[in-house]
Amino acid sequence: MRSERWFMAAACAAGLFLSSQAVQAQGEVEVLHWWTSGGEAAAVGELKQSYEAEGGTWIDSPIAGGGGDAAMTALRARVVSGNPPAAVQLKGPGIQEWADQGALASVEDVAGENSWDEHLPEVLAGIMKFEGEYVAAPVNIHRVDWLWANPEVLARVDAEMPTTWEEFNAVADKLQAEGITPLAHGGQPWQDATLFEVLVLGIGGPDFYRSALVDLNEEALESQTMVDVFDQLRKLRGYVDPNFSGRDWNLATAMVMNGEAGFQIMGDWAKGEFLAAGKVPGKDFLCAAAPGNGFLLNSDSIAFFNVRDGDQQEGQKVLASLIMSPDFQESFNLAKGSIPARTDVALDAFDECAQRSRADLEAAIEADALLPSMAHEMAVPRTVRGEFMDVVTNFFNSDMSSQDAVETLSSAIERAQL
Ligand code: BGC
Repeated sequence: MRSERWFMAAACAAGLFLSSQAVQAQGEVEVLHWWTSGGEAAAVGELKQSYEAEGGTWIDSPIAGGGGDAAMTALRARVVSGNPPAAVQLKGPGIQEWADQGALASVEDVAGENSWDEHLPEVLAGIMKFEGEYVAAPVNIHRVDWLWANPEVLARVDAEMPTTWEEFNAVADKLQAEGITPLAHGGQPWQDATLFEVLVLGIGGPDFYRSALVDLNEEALESQTMVDVFDQLRKLRGYVDPNFSGRDWNLATAMVMNGEAGFQIMGDWAKGEFLAAGKVPGKDFLCAAAPGNGFLLNSDSIAFFNVRDGDQQEGQKVLASLIMSPDFQESFNLAKGSIPARTDVALDAFDECAQRSRADLEAAIEADALLPSMAHEMAVPRTVRGEFMDVVTNFFNSDMSSQDAVETLSSAIERAQL
């Protein structure tokens, strides 16, 4: 016993424990997320590395599955069993729902010290707070309404990037006539819903989108415009290859990359895939806003769950502060395909797609055309989103008429709100 005490004192004096004490001081975090594709893994690797460079211990809990539905099921099980992860990829109303159940921890002290309010667009700051206190930190701003294309494939049919849905259909018809798959798509409910919401904005415009997918207005849901949206969705269905069912989104991106398909309609996490494969924007792939006006917002954030362990609580604070640091916001987003959530981080190191994203974001804020993504859980509660996905996926995989789809949708959304 005595010799043990002597050893401890001597070891401390010799500085032997200094490094492990430094690790402890920066805590430990378990991070639950669904960033498992090439580009996503590169981005979350930036977060892990930066946190470890601060001396923290990172426990990785990835749950594969684009759009995060599998991750959210796993999260619920962890919380119900009284063992939540300290940090979770979460967004939109989901943050409010968990906070409302008392599951989230405030990081307001870190936010206040670092003046988060001054660096975030108001709409994002609002989403991250519960009862006036930050319970989550945003890592990025993703745009959903993008069109990705392979320039060589377009050149084969002498086509340019389309700027209207009519032009899109015309190019797609030409590609099809040449035996090329016009649209790379993965038949999973969240991907079908992504196509759907891009069409709602592109065909109906920002006010229609808000009315139908945010305010859930019955008249908008049953309108002729919604019928037109389903008509165009039916067109898109005709442009996908026979093996689309169940395909992961990043495999659809790979089809555009290797010239098997002309286009993909997907958020700019697809750009993360192109970049991770060493592809160059403007040369190996093209990005353009999908036809229409406005900006469909999807922002990832890390929410902090109530944990009892002191080390984990310390880790949450270190992680929160790190996430909002300008250096991290740059390195993460260069890999992820998105742009920084902090609007004061310069985009000098970013490509033309990112520059376009920031310019369109600013214009959309000005024009009141910044809209939250329904498919990516920024707009409505999960139950309502579930109803949208069911109807859209059923339509996509059957010969249901647009008129029937609109009627089914309207009554499903009404039921979901009872
Ligand atoms: C997330 C992205 C992710 C994508 C595909 C979206 O809902 O916001 O970060 O890359 O799903 O998994």
